[in-house]
Amino acid sequence: MNVLPPIAMLAELTHRCPLACPYCSNPTELQAAQDELDTETWADVFRQAADIGVLQLHLSGGEPASRRDIVELTAAARAAGLYTNLITSGIGLTPRRLDALEAAGLDHIQLSLQGTNADLADWIGGYKGGFERKMQVAHAIRERGIPLTLNAVMHRHNLDDLERTIEMAVELGARRLEVACVQFHGWATINRVQLMPTREQTEDAKRIVAEAEARLRGVLAFDFVPPDYYSDFPKACMGGWGSAGLNVTPNGTVLPCHAAETIPHLTFENVRHRTLSEIWYDGDAFNAYRGTDWLPETCQTCDRMEIDFGGCRCQALALVGDAGATDPVCRKSPQHFIVRDIVEAAASEDASDFVYRGKELERLGRRCQSKQA
Ligand code: FES
Repeated sequence: MNVLPPIAMLAELTHRCPLACPYCSNPTELQAAQDELDTETWADVFRQAADIGVLQLHLSGGEPASRRDIVELTAAARAAGLYTNLITSGIGLTPRRLDALEAAGLDHIQLSLQGTNADLADWIGGYKGGFERKMQVAHAIRERGIPLTLNAVMHRHNLDDLERTIEMAVELGARRLEVACVQFHGWATINRVQLMPTREQTEDAKRIVAEAEARLRGVLAFDFVPPDYYSDFPKACMGGWGSAGLNVTPNGTVLPCHAAETIPHLTFENVRHRTLSEIWYDGDAFNAYRGTDWLPETCQTCDRMEIDFGGCRCQALALVGDAGATDPVCRKSPQHFIVRDIVEAAASEDASDFVYRGKELERLGRRCQSKQA
């Protein structure tokens, strides 16, 4: 098979994060700070990434600003010739740090938005005062003219605020708004019932985004990720396994997607022991679901085979128990009934009490919630 170079790399610099979003797609077991790659090793990984063809680097986490060396890492990425995007909650980005990041050559910031007001945002993020600090950071980014994308992860508890979310993106000077309906990986799986939007919310969101896209052309661009549980066909997760992008975890493990470690029969290699090029081209995990030869019968006879590549491997594993199965979101999947059952069950269950990472935050969630009621 002709394997093309990767275009993008997600560098999960740390799993440390001041927020505790119930939709976090990082694993339920996080990697410890002492296992994180050091500055020089990350810089070497960035150079290797550029050498094999990566163009865009997403500095992510956890909260990447939790790394003391975030400015040095940004400078190293730019020195390697990579377009550098910081994916952040904004917590930890002081004006001074923003100045240093800008001087280091940071190209773009993607700022998360948990809600449109402090009560809602702080409840969802599990961090009191987070919304106010985020607004300060958004204004500081705007003052500096750093290109900004607002990343709004949407779910049952904030989708009704979508119109206000769009207004806020314009007010904050964002060039792009990601309306990303929650995906159920990692910690988010624990909160699936609480987060699952209704069918009505999903239909409203599609209409609202379509209208706003037409109205705000030239002002605000949109990336809309609808919830796939209500779709007829799955998404081509990662644009196809091992085809366009790769993730590196805080300790240097290289993954074809951020939830790949949930697939128990795959083994993943580490930049401490093998080059990025060897892992990308020859790694067993990357070759496991590359292309279309491995696809199950349902997909082999489908004309969408090279559009969605059978959907998400991690979702197939989580719902069907087989990472090599057709993603059950697909209406042609023999297991599509599983998705229908989940959606129906979520609609009929109580969905108001998030499970946060950590007991203290769980208590905070209940307090904020009773305040809202
Ligand atoms: Fe792993 Fe979709 S998250 S393939």
